[in-house]
Amino acid sequence: MNEYLPGLEGVPATKSNISDIDGERGILSYRGYPIEQLAEHSTFEETTLLLLDGELPRAEELALFDEQIRRNRRVKFNIRTLMKALPATGHPMEMLQTAVASLGMFYPGSECLTGGDACTELDYVHNMTVKIIARMPVLVAMWEQIRNGYDPIEPRTDLSYSANFLYMMTGEEPDDLLAEILDKCLILHAEHTINASTFAALVAGSTLASPYGVVAAAIGTLSGPLHGGANEKVVHMLREIGSPENVRPWLEKKLARKEKIWGMGHREYKVKDPRAKILQQMVEDLMARRGGKVSSLFEIALALEEAAAERLGPKGVYPNVDFYSGILYDEMGIPTDQFTSIFAVARSAGWLAHWREQLGDNRIFRPTQVYTGHPLRDYVPPAERG
Ligand code: COA
Repeated sequence: MNEYLPGLEGVPATKSNISDIDGERGILSYRGYPIEQLAEHSTFEETTLLLLDGELPRAEELALFDEQIRRNRRVKFNIRTLMKALPATGHPMEMLQTAVASLGMFYPGSECLTGGDACTELDYVHNMTVKIIARMPVLVAMWEQIRNGYDPIEPRTDLSYSANFLYMMTGEEPDDLLAEILDKCLILHAEHTINASTFAALVAGSTLASPYGVVAAAIGTLSGPLHGGANEKVVHMLREIGSPENVRPWLEKKLARKEKIWGMGHREYKVKDPRAKILQQMVEDLMARRGGKVSSLFEIALALEEAAAERLGPKGVYPNVDFYSGILYDEMGIPTDQFTSIFAVARSAGWLAHWREQLGDNRIFRPTQVYTGHPLRDYVPPAERG
């Protein structure tokens, strides 16, 4: 096949049985389970094990995994020293990429990645996966303290994954409702077929790079505003619009300049992203639980969705996962520039599930190109160049 398809649109990059999208009907499933049911009934810990192992775990399997995650939360103090050396003004996603890559030096264990059977041994893959997934939220929360001039707060083993993250972010006893909301958000963001960051993880994994290198490559890829970085952009955009009355003139101006409306559009979905529907409902529920006062960002978002449906709907451009998630995080008091880090925490489950799948049937990614450069020619010494 010699045809070049920009953005590899429609080109299968792998075979996978982890998740599936029906972009016409707006359906997302993990291992066959609809995302709505997982968000309603599961926990992030359970969903992670589902993604990794392929089946919903039995109670004792889940308890063991939960225990492993809790026991792997602490990080060596030199990681804290390393993070303290980073500029407090730096973006949390760049910190996270640096910190995750550094884990490979503090918790090594990639020696068996030789292409033989050892690297596909489940114990090895599982242990490395636990080491990373357990520490992702810890690194994000440590940075929140460090960049504000404080020592990080020690993780606790008596709290769930989401509750411990909120505790380490704030130093306060986590609110049950907020921990539950965060947990649902993590489930919704945990996996999404072969998106750009998962593809980056696959490419890195196919070279037998360490899982820390795999996840660091994926974090860098997720950070861009066309991918996970859009959730932060959405909230800045809504603040810039300022009020629902400004939506239509603002939208017309943006579209006339061919600029992107953040949090809208998707390569796979031609209808509203099912995760956006759930997140929108979660914003409404949270506001109802808090006495019904509607945030101005939410009002602007609703007006923008309506106006954009008229202008962009015919192109199949509707809200994606990033359109309402930022409003929810904002309501939860999470700093705007940490939104994408939370996305990365959740997606580490999907990245590592794909890493495991890739190792199980690995061949290095080495695509070809359509060469558009000069034909062969002879070198000319500087003095003879015209
Ligand atoms: N705002 C305005 N127009 C958009 C748009 C958006 N967010 N998303 C897509 N479109 C338009 C494009 O301009 C294009 O129009 P045209 O055919 O008249 O040129 C058409 O819809 C197809 O878009 P295209 O950019 O080719 O889609 P893609 O599959 O390459 O890109 C995204 C997908 C997600 C990168 C793109 O929709 C986007 O940039 N969205 C905003 C960023 C974002 O929210 N990313 C998070 C994704 S979860």
